[in-house]
Amino acid sequence: MEDKLALEQRVKDLHKLLNDYGHAYYVLDRPLVPDSEYDARMKELIAIEEEHPDLIMPDSPTQRVGGEVLPGFSKVVHDTPMLSLSNVFNEEDIREFDRRVRADVGNVTYVCELKIDGLAISLKYEQGLFAQGSTRGDGTVGEDITMNLRTIRAIPLKLSEPVDIEARGEAYMPKKSFMKLNESREEDGLDVFANPRNAAAGSLRQLDPKIAASRNLSVFMYGMGGNGADYGLDTHSGSLEYLASLGFRTNPETRRCKDVEEVLAFVESWQDRRPDLPYEIDGIVIKVDSFHHQEELGFTAKSPRWATAYKFPAEEVKTKLLTIELTVGRTGVVTPTAILEPVRVAGTTVSRASLHNGDLIREKDIRIGDEVIIRKAGDIIPEIVMSLADQRSGDEEPFEMPAHCPACDSELVHLEEEVALRCVNPQCPAQLQEAVIHFVSRNAMNIEGIGEKVVGQLFAEGLIKDAADLYTLTEEQLAGLDRMGEKSASNLIAAIRQSKSNSLEKLLFGLGIRHVGQKAAQILAMEFGTLDALRAATEEQLTAIHEIGEKVADSVVTYFGNEDVERVLGKLEAAGVNTVYTGPRKQDIPEDGPLAGKTVVLTGKLSHFTRNDAKAALEALGASVTGSVSKKTDLVVAGEEAGSKLEKAESLGIEIWDEAALLDAISE
Ligand code: IVH
Repeated sequence: MEDKLALEQRVKDLHKLLNDYGHAYYVLDRPLVPDSEYDARMKELIAIEEEHPDLIMPDSPTQRVGGEVLPGFSKVVHDTPMLSLSNVFNEEDIREFDRRVRADVGNVTYVCELKIDGLAISLKYEQGLFAQGSTRGDGTVGEDITMNLRTIRAIPLKLSEPVDIEARGEAYMPKKSFMKLNESREEDGLDVFANPRNAAAGSLRQLDPKIAASRNLSVFMYGMGGNGADYGLDTHSGSLEYLASLGFRTNPETRRCKDVEEVLAFVESWQDRRPDLPYEIDGIVIKVDSFHHQEELGFTAKSPRWATAYKFPAEEVKTKLLTIELTVGRTGVVTPTAILEPVRVAGTTVSRASLHNGDLIREKDIRIGDEVIIRKAGDIIPEIVMSLADQRSGDEEPFEMPAHCPACDSELVHLEEEVALRCVNPQCPAQLQEAVIHFVSRNAMNIEGIGEKVVGQLFAEGLIKDAADLYTLTEEQLAGLDRMGEKSASNLIAAIRQSKSNSLEKLLFGLGIRHVGQKAAQILAMEFGTLDALRAATEEQLTAIHEIGEKVADSVVTYFGNEDVERVLGKLEAAGVNTVYTGPRKQDIPEDGPLAGKTVVLTGKLSHFTRNDAKAALEALGASVTGSVSKKTDLVVAGEEAGSKLEKAESLGIEIWDEAALLDAISE
């Protein structure tokens, strides 16, 4: 009992520590401890919670991703409407706004804030605990996106005081995360997001919170839903301070301005500094500070009279489209890039802009030789807004995406649901080099000492044509490369040799099969055990596996159906590369247990088992245990207080056991 009390206290201490570290890191941008310390404390808490599920509190720092896929978003009626702002576009408009304000209430102090380009959110707290988060929607009714918002580290799950409050603000995606996300979407042949705002909105409107969790979103809170007077506040600036004191992230670039001249100076100062911010802003919001003045000024039907938004002019410039270049990525996606007459936009010289795909070029009727208007999408990524058709001389040439790969001439295809054109020839030289770089990378075959540079040299010297050729390299050949010593050459050979014994999942991931990321590679390796078994698998066999969808199945079958792939695999096998799964678990699962071949989901609290023990017990009976309930689930073991997984299982008519049934099965 005493132990339990001590443990409860430790859990509380860990909550406090992790919340303090998290607040300093995600809200204040001022880390208190190294990441390793944060990770160590988080691991400690996870370990305790796994052993003692009854100690998992809803506001535990471990509980940001619930793991439940929502059936759809429910509607939320906002307590007070979430209004929008009137817009002003130049100095004269701002002066006019100020004149109207002063005509009504006399001289005022303003608060100027950055207008964050994301999406408006409302966060409701009950007794200081995060209770509900929603989108603005049409201003009156929004969508409940609590599960997704919980994944954002800058949103506190618990406030510093047990207050009931609704905070409002903006959720956004930092510029860097936006660029990374689009790069990987382009590689995957998916449509790219036009700007960070769309990317943030797209992420928060996903039904699976894991997607939002992976998108590195953040927030700035800029106001309250209710009445400031309820919290003893009489100014907007005071309410921002109060929000920060409760633990909310507020924007540090906020200024009080005593008159319109100071407002104009603030606006002016951001025209140039805007590109330096790590997030996107599209203007400056100007608000009357005093709540008393705000009340007197009141509202129009759509927006407050006490605030307005100055919108930056879009930085668009004219240049000429010289030509369109095609590049072939690792996965064979052929991307058209506009080569432009160099021109300065938003702080840098731009000479290239991705055109993403042929559809876009056609839709915008972009022709080689056209005068075009360009800008930076989200102020970062150069894009062509439009071509100036009326300025054509007649010499401009329409552009069609080629039917054949620019590097290997094989026929390009549109894989299902993809906008991208793809070269599916595994022998394509442009892809091969990128493919080998992927093959040797850490999470794939992990061949230390070989990176982009060495692979480039090996191709340039004609020493390799594909990943399998790595295994026939000799020390002499490597030592002959530029700036490669004998010692390094022998180390490389050793690293290459060592990689031969990798377990199958590393090889599968390294092969770079479309849609087969690390996780899918792991699942496929575990399920099939050998490369031969996977090669022989049909689409039906593949989709029968929990977590393997049609997209992956189709891609795997297409991949192994290719003759060139067969040849490379043959070379790998001949070189002695292991093609068998030697990782843990699958072998330990008996093939003839009472639950053999069954997919089982555990949910709720169990009193006789820890989660891990229950999982091990089920696996000992032959089951494979997965996280979420779907049509492919055969059985759900539900403990106390089981929630939506149990409901879903019931609605799908899946067999359900209680803990006693599990105990019975084990003792049989
Ligand atoms: S105040 C009643 N402050 O801009 C006024 N809005 O149309 C409520 N926005 O969708 C808005 N940064 O989400 C305010 N510092 C800021 C803002 C901001 C971005 C967004 C807001 C709304 C739009 C205004």
